[in-house]
Amino acid sequence: MNRDKLTTLLLLSAMVGILIFEACNKKSPVTPDCIITDVSFSEVIVPILEDNCYGCHSGNNPSSGIPLDSYEAIKQQVANQKLYGSIARLPGYVPMPLNKDSLPKCKINQIKAWIDEGANNN
Ligand code: HEC
Repeated sequence: MNRDKLTTLLLLSAMVGILIFEACNKKSPVTPDCIITDVSFSEVIVPILEDNCYGCHSGNNPSSGIPLDSYEAIKQQVANQKLYGSIARLPGYVPMPLNKDSLPKCKINQIKAWIDEGANNN
């Protein structure tokens, strides 16, 4: 094997090595930061409830007579503490979403922040 070929081979192995190292070293995909200031009712809270709660708590016959598909209805569940109590799975509340995994921590924190900021229709 002449020098040039050997050099090329070495370079190639180094590159492959670096690629493999990079691939293994890669952190899990970066998740966007969880924003918990100025949480918007329409842009943040409603989509969370739509995705996780409307299946049972909307329409003409919501589960347990608890609708969650309007601001006024949601506000009631804020006032009686049940919205947060149920999603945070606090003692004394029925854990929601029913028979499913807990909401991701970020979503729970966003709902908490929105409530703490006054549960505004923003
Ligand atoms: C699969 C249907 C289903 C889903 C999905 C669901 N719920 Fe419920 N929810 C129920 C039922 C049924 C009850 C009544 C449970 C009981 O009283 O034992 C209930 C009760 C509640 C209560 C009253 C809890 C209490 O302690 O009195 C709240 C608040 C509530 N749900 C909010 C939510 C929220 C918020 C979500 C979404 C994160 C959600 N639910 C998702 C079916 C559901």
